[in-house]
Amino acid sequence: MRVLFATSEVFPLIKTGGLADVSGSLPTALQNLGVDIRILVPGYPAVLNQLDDLTHVAMLKNLPVIENAELLMGTILDNDINVLVIKATGLYEREGGPYVDANGQEWLDNPVRFGILSKVAAILSGPHSPIADWQPNIVHCNDWQTGLAPAYMKLVEHSKAKSIISLHNMAFQGCYAPSWLPTLALPSTHFTLEGFEYHGQLSFLKAGIFYADTITTVSPSYAKEIQTPAFGFGLEGLLSKRGNELKGILNGIETDEWNPEFDPHLIKTYSATKLAGKKQVKAALQERLGLHVDANAPLLGVVSRLTHQKGLDMLVPILQQLVNAGCQFALLGSGESSLEHAFRHLAVNNPGKVSVTIGYNEPLSHQIMAGCDMFLMPSRFEPCGLNQLYGLAYGTPPIVNATGGLADSVVDTNIITFKNKTANGFVMSEASSASLLSCIKQALNVFNNDAKAWQQIQKNGMLQNLSWDKSALEYLAEYEKLLGKEFKIKDSLKLAR
Ligand code: ADP
Ligand code: GLC
Repeated sequence: MRVLFATSEVFPLIKTGGLADVSGSLPTALQNLGVDIRILVPGYPAVLNQLDDLTHVAMLKNLPVIENAELLMGTILDNDINVLVIKATGLYEREGGPYVDANGQEWLDNPVRFGILSKVAAILSGPHSPIADWQPNIVHCNDWQTGLAPAYMKLVEHSKAKSIISLHNMAFQGCYAPSWLPTLALPSTHFTLEGFEYHGQLSFLKAGIFYADTITTVSPSYAKEIQTPAFGFGLEGLLSKRGNELKGILNGIETDEWNPEFDPHLIKTYSATKLAGKKQVKAALQERLGLHVDANAPLLGVVSRLTHQKGLDMLVPILQQLVNAGCQFALLGSGESSLEHAFRHLAVNNPGKVSVTIGYNEPLSHQIMAGCDMFLMPSRFEPCGLNQLYGLAYGTPPIVNATGGLADSVVDTNIITFKNKTANGFVMSEASSASLLSCIKQALNVFNNDAKAWQQIQKNGMLQNLSWDKSALEYLAEYEKLLGKEFKIKDSLKLAR
């Protein structure tokens, strides 16, 4: 079983969000099951600079717009995984992010940048692949950036490989003017409802959903939600048509990277059986962020993109009240300027009590996850969410809205769930400020008045198996279905099945 895992970001090379975390850990989990897997990514400067063993693999010819590009291969040393890199200087080697420039504006040539990523995935799986000794029989696509791959595979490259697309977020679809069709060498006969046309535009994501042989998304609840108008972002009809082939598989976490027992970003490590170190981490975080060092003050944390999806606007009107009640608050994130401004304003008005760091900071994200007492994630929709899983692993009970992967991973604390030791966080009854406030109050009630019960909730989360073990097997089962045959996994792993 040979799998080409095509993605626009992969940790630790390049990351804007959870897709990078998944791309950095799921392929390794599959490789550990014996799958022969390679990742395909664009050659952004960060990718080229960090893979120091890059070697030439082949020249890619007849690409749209740029004609030729070089295909290189390197390994991510930590997880020993092969990464194929498309080196196309004019397309990918520029300052800024993978999707936007330094001012946050989308790169105007994104259709070409990700059209070529998709095209290369299709070429490598087809009869004209320049790699003779490694042909994937499965191309695993992720989100709109690789959505054209299944279309190119079927309509242009006549690839015999099977394709699967994983949907990490329906809010981003890659919709562009139809004038891009000839540029991308896509057959205009398929610019129809039964093809990649979406309300008069070329939709990369729709192409992926329409042409892929099977579809997954990153939690069972989100798989159901996206078949409804409230969450499908216009593609709910197509998704429910393909409902039988749409499977929700909850993300796992990279337990080498996100583990309070070994985390190099923490001044003190800790575990479910030795929780004491968490207190020192909290004190160090308070000091680092200029908060009053106070073990008793409940410290609420957020690490997030600041967008409508994440629902943090619901926190703004209630935060002062929480601070007045003795809470501290630490936020790390960036995004919509009105939200950045609102949180900064709260920080200025509450020195020593509210800390707001606008930007992206990997070590600080670990320290907030570990040093806070509770983690807030009131998302309006959340395909899976990784931060609540990190919160569980770090003994920082998540407070979440009941949607998507949050609903599938966080068990609200009540008499029954506390008794049967499944309670691991607090779940809002609806997406509103009032519900968020009442949910936080319930958490505070336990935290302030019953240390033993709080510890039990922490431990319930910390002792869960949040690794990729189970989910990787579910992906393997999808691959097996596509190929119509069972794969021989290592004997030692058979029990897990
Ligand atoms: P999404 O992908 O929708 O943003 P996830 O919860 O799946 O949400 O994943 C977000 C990932 O990005 C997590 O690993 C989180 O720690 C990280 N992250 C988000 N914002 C920041 C930031 N400002 N600094 C560091 N890491 C961040
Ligand atoms: C997206 C989603 C997030 C998910 C991540 C990885 O960014 O917003 O919920 O965890 O993809 O699948």
